[in-house]
Amino acid sequence: MDRIRIVGGNQLNGVIPISGAKNAALPLMIASLLTDDTLTLENVPHLADVEQLIRILGNHGVDISVNGRRERQGESYARTIHFTCRNIVDTTAPYELVSKMRASFWVIGPLLAREGKARVSLPGGCAIGTRPVDLFIEGLQALSANIEIDGGYVNATAPEGGLVGARYTFPKVSVGATHVLMMAATLANGTTVLGNAAREPEVVDLANCLNAMGAKITGQGTATITIEGVRSLSGARHRVLPDRIETGTYAMAVAMTGGDVILEDTDMALLDTALEAIRRAGAEITETNSGIRVVRNGAGIKPVDIVTDPFPGFPTDLQAQFMGLMTMAKGTSHITETIFENRFMHVQELARLGAKISLSGQTAKIEGVSRLKGAPVMATDLRASVSLVIAGLAAEGETMVSRVYHLDRGFERLEEKLTRCGAHVERVSD
Ligand code: EPZ
Repeated sequence: MDRIRIVGGNQLNGVIPISGAKNAALPLMIASLLTDDTLTLENVPHLADVEQLIRILGNHGVDISVNGRRERQGESYARTIHFTCRNIVDTTAPYELVSKMRASFWVIGPLLAREGKARVSLPGGCAIGTRPVDLFIEGLQALSANIEIDGGYVNATAPEGGLVGARYTFPKVSVGATHVLMMAATLANGTTVLGNAAREPEVVDLANCLNAMGAKITGQGTATITIEGVRSLSGARHRVLPDRIETGTYAMAVAMTGGDVILEDTDMALLDTALEAIRRAGAEITETNSGIRVVRNGAGIKPVDIVTDPFPGFPTDLQAQFMGLMTMAKGTSHITETIFENRFMHVQELARLGAKISLSGQTAKIEGVSRLKGAPVMATDLRASVSLVIAGLAAEGETMVSRVYHLDRGFERLEEKLTRCGAHVERVSD
């Protein structure tokens, strides 16, 4: 099994190209199930989760062709992928496929909308909390679906004539349930109004793509999304938006090691709150023609308290990385996680590098130390694993991160991007 070996101590200097967002690409790919025409997605990142979803969609009858387009010599590959689902050949998403990635559960929306039925295994994914599916079920029921749970599967059927538009207000903000209800409602009879909807940029990206396919969606990016059902959707061409989590991760890496890096092909507006926290920690962040410049020289890292929240708040997907940064702050900081109840698995691994962190309920107290020391550590989930990389970049000596398949789910060419900026990071295959 591959491991990542890091020898810490180098500053980061150079350019890092930011990939297309995993969490936008996944729902966009799933939207291809809604039409018998071709949906072409540009800027799709090459990640394990994308490959897994390609397998799942193939199982439902989606024909997929990939144009690998080398954007920069030896660097990042942004791919253009064509998805064509003339007929849905199978409305079942089996346990063997869905258990590997939670987002694959989202096929339930398009399958139900287009075929009137879906049988989808209850999901798996990162072990960061219980992550139930009650909101999906309640929401689909509001659209008149009949839902039964049996033997680990959700069996959903639409009434004769299809789903029926309705008003549904989420009791809690959910990115996935917003994606699914928005997709399902595009082909429903009548108008659906979703209240307390997720406002994440990835939701806006999906709504924009659906509109390019002929859907009638308004209000995306606000808490109330209105979807006027249409009879059918067509194909479209759409570019996946930049990965704000990858952007924030590398910005935090630069803040941690010091240096001067341009994050290319990305957009500050996608992560205002996180960038503001990094600024307060002592980095200079400015907009450039091609993206974002992050600089930290001389000054030490200042302690900053954060609380995770749905967009536009501080993203839970950057919480572990920010904790990595705070381990070397000059003072004590507090990080409160409000989205997932079990997203602190990186704490004990960061402690192996010498970090001083104590947990009280959903809040971590981080007492900054003046040095971290390399050690063997284990990746426990996608974002936790990259927090260990960030800490390893600043630690003295060698850090060996095992179970890197977690990283491969969400970070395209991580070693390459960091190495080109002067870091000592390599993949070791046993
Ligand atoms: C998306 O997951 C992201 N995944 C996650 O990123 C991200 O952490 C999360 O949104 C929050 O921003 C993708 O986009 C593929 P939620 P999702 O439904 O949609 C609870 C990563 O590392 N909930 O917004 O699964 C849930 O348990 C991943 O890239 C219910 O209670 O998250 C959580 O506490 C990890 N019932 C909260 O809502 C439900 O039916 C928010 O979850 C659904 C969710």
